[in-house]
Amino acid sequence: MNQCTVTFLPANTTVKVTAGTTVLEAAQKAGLPLKSTCGGAGTCGRCIIKVRRGEVQVKGGHLPAKLKEDGYTLACQTIIQGDVAIEIPAESLLSKHQVLLQDKGRLQDGLTDLLGSYPLEAACEVVTLHLAEPTLTENTSDTSRLLAALRKEKGVEGQVSLALLQDLPESLRQAGWQVDVTLARADNRLLRVTPAGSGRSFGLAIDLGTTTVVVSLLDLRNGRRIGQGGSYNRQAVYGDDVISRIIHATSNHGGLEELRQAALATINEISNSLLANHGINQAEVTAAVIAGNTTMSHLLLGVNPKYIRLQPYIPAATEWPALTAGEIGLAINPLATVQVFPSVASYVGGDIVAGALFTRLARGEELTLFIDIGTNGEMVLGNKDWLIACACSAGPAFEGSGITCGMRAMEGAVEGVTIDPETCEVELEVIGGGRPAGLCGSGLIDCLAKLRRAGIIDRTGNFQEVATPRLRRTDEGYEFVLAWAAESSHGKDIVITAADIKNLIRSKGAVFAGIQSLLKTVSLELEAVDRIIIAGGFGNYLHVPNAVEIGLLPDLPAEKYVFAGNTSLKGAELALLSRPAWEEALELGRKMTYLELSAGNLFMEEFVSALFLPHTRLELFPSVT
Ligand code: FES
Repeated sequence: MNQCTVTFLPANTTVKVTAGTTVLEAAQKAGLPLKSTCGGAGTCGRCIIKVRRGEVQVKGGHLPAKLKEDGYTLACQTIIQGDVAIEIPAESLLSKHQVLLQDKGRLQDGLTDLLGSYPLEAACEVVTLHLAEPTLTENTSDTSRLLAALRKEKGVEGQVSLALLQDLPESLRQAGWQVDVTLARADNRLLRVTPAGSGRSFGLAIDLGTTTVVVSLLDLRNGRRIGQGGSYNRQAVYGDDVISRIIHATSNHGGLEELRQAALATINEISNSLLANHGINQAEVTAAVIAGNTTMSHLLLGVNPKYIRLQPYIPAATEWPALTAGEIGLAINPLATVQVFPSVASYVGGDIVAGALFTRLARGEELTLFIDIGTNGEMVLGNKDWLIACACSAGPAFEGSGITCGMRAMEGAVEGVTIDPETCEVELEVIGGGRPAGLCGSGLIDCLAKLRRAGIIDRTGNFQEVATPRLRRTDEGYEFVLAWAAESSHGKDIVITAADIKNLIRSKGAVFAGIQSLLKTVSLELEAVDRIIIAGGFGNYLHVPNAVEIGLLPDLPAEKYVFAGNTSLKGAELALLSRPAWEEALELGRKMTYLELSAGNLFMEEFVSALFLPHTRLELFPSVT
């Protein structure tokens, strides 16, 4: 096959590929991942590039006429035929997300509060052992000598793997028979033998999200959080949502392995940089706990996710075997213990179980509704006596995905919108205070609420005939200009289109219908709910009254709402630091009753009723006028 040289501009990065490769694949190979919400199907219009030089074949795809006229094409639909130079506009690049590490979660998460009444009993412990040097008459093997000392000191039967055994003779002698042994609490496996006084033990808590990955580095001896790092999930080049990822994993030869490697590379890059910043060796990291949704857990472990997507939505497992870092490819001590959070069923995954653990959902009397509005929209209702969970396929609209000018909550994102009902003039609140680049979830919610209040859209979300230059008609339908090109950070208008509004209404309708379905299944009314916990970065900038006004969240007093931040990560930290907490997580996964929303008509009826602003049944939203 013909080898072609592809030069990407303005980075001036060059990569060699065979003729027939798409520009999307070539960019990925060059380490320049492009936005590709649809995973290369040509439908999302995100992977826009311009061919500056060379021979390509363009297949088509969904690209506005204006951009085509200006010479742009879609990277996933542009096939390389010879040596080419490709320009990548900054907006097409999957920029390193500024993952919100310091979230505004209002549940305490300092170490003491994180642990609460759970004991500090980390996944591994370091035990100092003083061994007697062997002699001609006291000549038991190195292993027997070590295990006897451990038995005497801790009263446990240690387990020695071949990998540890291979280095043991030298380790013991170099340490002068005075050693620190790092021991896995779950099964008393010996993970590391080092000279006495040098045995440090660290652990990673990992939130493996569909969009972002966050890693927390903890000192397992004292439970101190040393640092956190985050990045976008490199799997994003295969599509934004779990469905595109499952399709890629199951319909492309080697697709599952590509996704597995992408997730691993993301985690390893974050953890390597954390370790380097804090002067810690990979060998000193002896435990990891991972919380991810059902699909992410399957993909990381290389398990076929095909049947999660097909009726009746069955995962390969809800509980995972005890693993080692070496088995799955984490760049830490290969013998390190790896615990992957259990899931409940279908799309209700380990991230939700971790959230339920951290928020003590099953520990109190009060009836709590836990909602994680991420790329899917999972929720749990209950208290210490019972828990019921569902996943409502809300889609990633509130993460800015699939929305023309949508983006994650980061600097440059519009988080608040004001629209003058008389003049239709707009004021925007932008995260970081600079020029706007797009709208994040809270900005989109605000925008919807204000468009309706100003009469620019009606209760069905349709644009009304309003005399303002901001409302205009394009080939794709109506759109409303929130910021003119001269006001934005990238020199292009920031708009919300009729299709965006429909998409957002479908998403909010699915979330509210999920809540109603859970309540109806247990024959309770909204008023019975004592508190609502909103999980995820989504809550960081959310204004509850606006979310109520569009019918996304129930019309309940603001004091019932609690924002808990990244509960998936905090649950993973808790499980890493406290063995009893991990055991409770296993119990939680088994205890939650799963409600499959696609069985029966309940959800669909609720969904249809929720496709209005705020709802067809206005009595459910007495505070909305
Ligand atoms: Fe190219 Fe979606 S249009 S990835």
